[in-house]
Amino acid sequence: MMGDVKPDVCVVGLGYIGLPTAAIIARAGCKVLGLDVSEHVVDTINRGEIHIEEVDLDGLVHGVVQRGLLRASTQIAPSDVFVIAVPTPFEKDGHHTPDISYVLAAATQVAAVLKAGDTVILESTSPVGTTEQMRDLMAGLRPDLKFPGKTKETPDVSIAYCPERVLPGRILEELTNNDRSIGGITPRCARKALAFYKRFVRGTCVTTDARSAEMTKLVENAYRDVNIAFANELSMVADRMGLDVWEVIRLANRHPRVNILQPGPGVGGHCIAVDPWFIVAGAPDETPLIRTARNVNDGKMHHVVAKAAELVEAHPGVKVACLGLAFKANIDDFRESPARYVAASLARKFGSRINVVEPYAGQLPREFEGTGAVQIDLDTALEECGVLIVLVDHDVFKVVPLAERSGKVVYDTRGIWPDQPGVDVAGAGLRLAS
Ligand SMILES: NC(=O)c1ccc[n+]([C@@H]2O[C@H](COP(=O)([O-])OP(=O)(O)OC[C@H]3O[C@@H](n4cnc5c(N)ncnc54)[C@H](O)[C@@H]3O)[C@@H](O)[C@H]2O)c1
Repeated sequence: MMGDVKPDVCVVGLGYIGLPTAAIIARAGCKVLGLDVSEHVVDTINRGEIHIEEVDLDGLVHGVVQRGLLRASTQIAPSDVFVIAVPTPFEKDGHHTPDISYVLAAATQVAAVLKAGDTVILESTSPVGTTEQMRDLMAGLRPDLKFPGKTKETPDVSIAYCPERVLPGRILEELTNNDRSIGGITPRCARKALAFYKRFVRGTCVTTDARSAEMTKLVENAYRDVNIAFANELSMVADRMGLDVWEVIRLANRHPRVNILQPGPGVGGHCIAVDPWFIVAGAPDETPLIRTARNVNDGKMHHVVAKAAELVEAHPGVKVACLGLAFKANIDDFRESPARYVAASLARKFGSRINVVEPYAGQLPREFEGTGAVQIDLDTALEECGVLIVLVDHDVFKVVPLAERSGKVVYDTRGIWPDQPGVDVAGAGLRLAS
């Protein structure tokens, strides 16, 4: 851009979202200060290294740190644009109450260095109204500045909400190419944020208000969760009725207006299994469907444990392999993973009969300690284990030919081996399709 003055940017929170975002903004030529509370994170990045796994992120971070465009610190400094990407977990009250204390802590830090002309953008997945709460907090801390929606005059600062919809493993590509919703506290705020994102986003940026943008992010994940719950419920019905759920879904999807998703062992990760509760928290009486979907998907995990245990018990003395621990295919992320929950439950119940195959894990997570279960490679599992329980659809599992699985008892919770003959458990007529 001719005469373009690139803003200085501060990205608060350098995790799975913040670090790739900081690196991409730096690649676009802005000077970026990355702020994190963790000394380890800050030191790692300042060495030009990374503390998380993400495709191509290491080279990008190394390059922008070397060129002096990205620097990390635990101390905030004045900037022109602040992007907040800190965690938004649940409170520890056991009721799935959203905890926005990290967002408010970040906003407090930003308020200390805020000046007229600055833009503050919240990217953390947040309950509706969080951006306004953040604005109110900063307005209380900085009575010398005029805040949007709080004054009839032109405000001094702009505040917007702009959620992320990236897929782990494709974050750099999706950060650049996905469409984005940009929600301003006022239309003027949205335009300021839009001009900023245009510097590094190639997808279409659609402006809206902050509350709609907050809700949009939650709705996207609740939509996925409800649809997966339908498939998971069907799989449990099919188990009860002795039907092959994969066959039923395949046939139903031939209807031109039906598109049922695939069942699995539950829903994991830190987005789809979490975000729907933020809607429930905001409207508890109006969300029976969203709440039920969450419970169905969590219930599927327990269903799989029960069916797998039944299968293991029906084959005494036979070695068992659980295939996969990750929360989805081809990644090394085991947070909130139903596969991990199922495998660990079986390990606690059956001890050394249980073996775990997880090519993306260097060692088994802590909850396997003392159970007697061990990690083995896929080849050993195929040679030595008579019962295979498929929990993750990693590509490396999908390509195992029938010849190497024939004669084995298989519980395929992901439907990766449609050619596997069905299994009857203890003559109960139970076909373990899902
Ligand atoms: N990971 C994803 O795939 C994904 C996708 C979409 C949205 N989100 C949302 O993005 C937000 C961030 O998620 P994440 O996965 O990057 O989290 P993360 O845990 O990987 O990283 C968060 C980072 O923020 C730091 N932090 C915490 N409080 C801080 C503070 N006050 N000041 C500075 N740094 C602070 C932590 O030390 C950590 O390094 C969450 O709201 C999440 O729901 C994540």
